[in-house]
Amino acid sequence: MKLDIRSKFLGFFASKGHQVYESMPLIPQDPTLLFTNAGMVQFKDIFTGKISAPSIPRGTSSQLCIRAGGKHNDLENVGYTARHHTLFEMLGNFSFGDYFKEQAIAYAWEFVTEVLGFDKSILYVTVHESDDEAFEIWSKHIDPARIKRMGDKDNFWQMGDTGPCGPCSEIFVDQGEENFNGEEDYFGGDGDRFLEIWNLVFMQYERQSDGSLTPLPKPSIDTGMGLERVAALLEGKRSNFDSSIFMPLIDKVASLCGKPYVYENGASYRVIADHARSVAFLLAQGVHFDKEGRGYVLRRILRRAVRHGYLLGIKKPFLFEIVQEVCTQMGSIYPYLLEKQAYILEQCKYEEKRFYETLELGMSLFQKELQDSKDCFSGEVAFKLYDTYGFPLDLTLDMLKEHSIDLDIATFESCMQHQRELAKASWKGSGDEVSDGEFGIIASLPQTSLAQDNVHQCTSKISALFDENGKSIQSLTQGQGWAMLEITPFYAQGGGAIGDRGWLSNSDIQIAEVIDTRSFFGKTLCQIHSTSPICIGDVLEAEVDVKHQLEVRKHHSATHLLHFVLRDLLGSSVSQAGSLVQSNRLRFDFSFHRALSEDELKEIQNKVNAIIISCKNACIEQMGIDQAKQKGAMALFGEKYGEVVRVVGFEDAGLELCGGLHVSNTGMIGNFYILKENGVSSGVRRIEAVCGQAGFEFACDTLRLEQELKSMLKTQNLSQAILKLQEENKQLKKETKGKIQTDFSEEKVGDTYLIISQAQGDGKEIVDHLKNKYPKVAVLLILNQEEKISLVAGVKNTPIKSGAWIKEIAQILGGNGGGRDDFATAGGKDASKIPQALQQARDYALKALKA
Ligand code: SER
Repeated sequence: MKLDIRSKFLGFFASKGHQVYESMPLIPQDPTLLFTNAGMVQFKDIFTGKISAPSIPRGTSSQLCIRAGGKHNDLENVGYTARHHTLFEMLGNFSFGDYFKEQAIAYAWEFVTEVLGFDKSILYVTVHESDDEAFEIWSKHIDPARIKRMGDKDNFWQMGDTGPCGPCSEIFVDQGEENFNGEEDYFGGDGDRFLEIWNLVFMQYERQSDGSLTPLPKPSIDTGMGLERVAALLEGKRSNFDSSIFMPLIDKVASLCGKPYVYENGASYRVIADHARSVAFLLAQGVHFDKEGRGYVLRRILRRAVRHGYLLGIKKPFLFEIVQEVCTQMGSIYPYLLEKQAYILEQCKYEEKRFYETLELGMSLFQKELQDSKDCFSGEVAFKLYDTYGFPLDLTLDMLKEHSIDLDIATFESCMQHQRELAKASWKGSGDEVSDGEFGIIASLPQTSLAQDNVHQCTSKISALFDENGKSIQSLTQGQGWAMLEITPFYAQGGGAIGDRGWLSNSDIQIAEVIDTRSFFGKTLCQIHSTSPICIGDVLEAEVDVKHQLEVRKHHSATHLLHFVLRDLLGSSVSQAGSLVQSNRLRFDFSFHRALSEDELKEIQNKVNAIIISCKNACIEQMGIDQAKQKGAMALFGEKYGEVVRVVGFEDAGLELCGGLHVSNTGMIGNFYILKENGVSSGVRRIEAVCGQAGFEFACDTLRLEQELKSMLKTQNLSQAILKLQEENKQLKKETKGKIQTDFSEEKVGDTYLIISQAQGDGKEIVDHLKNKYPKVAVLLILNQEEKISLVAGVKNTPIKSGAWIKEIAQILGGNGGGRDDFATAGGKDASKIPQALQQARDYALKALKA
């Protein structure tokens, strides 16, 4: 049934001339957005006019969304309401300045009543209180008595504090008074009797950061309908969780815990079913369990699910089994779930295992506090359990219930409130905020054109200038800023590779150095450091630093080869998690669950070099995305690809979707050396490597070092010489062990031997030796080794007390120390006072012995 809804929706809008878009990644490119949280996210810049509208100005999609943090903070509600989810699918149709209210309403009505077949007698709609136009249009379809006017709170939608927005109109289904005891008889409340199924937003404005509204270039449409709720309604279910989307997952939980699912007490089952879906998709799309950011949200989701498993009596990793069910269920629509299934399950199970260890620690803190509490369990400890050990309040409350002990909720709440304030202050990217950042006006400037491939020099006009902060300026006298050229030979930073460098000059006189090239809203900008004044309209010679670019190309192509070899050796679950390509090094992050061995790294290095040596030709082609996928081209999550993509391959050594610069033959890379492999976060490894000129320099340095060592050790065979040195060193240690200095001049005072001297070696050993040798003895030694002065004192059968004795003498040397009566140690600083200290030590001893 549910698959039917998705395909019916997309099919319906395709038949009305809409382009079908794939669900964009859950991790949006917009860095201020935590997760994709609505269908319109991928079209935001089109609505605001920053990107021109596509040739087909209407689109439709079924978008995976996550709402698990930030303003919506839906996480804590999930499981306890019929409709909240961390992950859900939003069906939407969009008009980019094409049709508006009239048509949007007509489409929605036709789809709801004719395609889905909802009975008109149970449908209601809401419009914004000021929107007479929408009211009029709706009146043509539905009895005006069923149209409610609502205020800003309910019927004005905007993406975040800033961004595209407008009044909206919502379609509601009345599920019947009899089913809900008449308790919820209004719209926009928390109740479920009147259920909103579709939100039609009439995008008209853009909210600016100062709160003001500016009109969008063209009024547009953004609609969103929750797939899960429509599925539940059509299946006649009261809760989304009762639908065929969630029930197989809930049944699986029931079979694992051995207790049947009952709706009334079933929150834990629902939490697990919901969270397993987020875990599956987030892992599949390249999010990793982490201490911060998106990875932390993923970790919180997993932990919440595991704790609810604990409540159900499951005491071992189990969530991965539910996640597996998600992969099976959703794999036909989202095939990457099946492709990455092994990796997803492994990561999930590993993280669950780790959390069980914390869970146990939390349990012991709980037990300890329980013993100390009389009739009230500390709110602070409950908060610590929540915050540090990831125990939700309901888990703690449930455990307390068994012991009939209350919780100091007020203190818990005030700790929570305090933390919320801290979090609000520190995490701005709360999931809904959007900022345009700098260079706002670039969007309205004409497109820069890129000089033809492999043209590194051209004459071009300066079409815009910006200062360091992105403020538009007419001229730049000297210093740093940004320049936009009408035609640019400079290639912008992208796909991990840094941007081009070069020069701007006028009749052979250098005007500015280009230190970087970036792309903003699809326009290429050079970061410049000018030495002479530069103005808009100036016609200059632009020249790329070809040597720099060539080294970037080599490192970029080497990155592709490394990716290919990693997948070849370690399996296709390895996927790129990040990459940095510079002219003198590359860094490649990839998903893998353990460190690589020396042998593996050697093999990877060998294989990459083998591809380099065999001089494979690069093949760079434009093709349709479907054809590229069919050919097995690797694509990245988080990248937005158009219908036509650029595919880069090196004969049989890998095929990737990539927009960057490469060498034309792998032989040009020259060489490849891995410098380092380490972990960056759980499940993500990083390899750093060099090639080309930097690789050559690395090899030269290594050879130079080898040469230096050979001449130091006077050998051609380094390893043999080092082995010999190690052997000799061992032998020497053996020989000196047990040998201690014994040649002291001793003084006899009565029948006590007095030894006060400078010494070498292990002071304690010497003292022990002398104490064994004489029946009555007092020893004080000063050892002055490696610019450090240390003192030891030991006595046997004499009235002298070592601790007091050494303390007085150490002070003469500017130090301090002490110890037991029979043995003590100290340190000193001033070596020039050693003779005086020895003298004083003797005087002290003589006095004590004669006393
Ligand atoms: N953007 C609107 C929403 O999220 C409609 O798609 O509700």
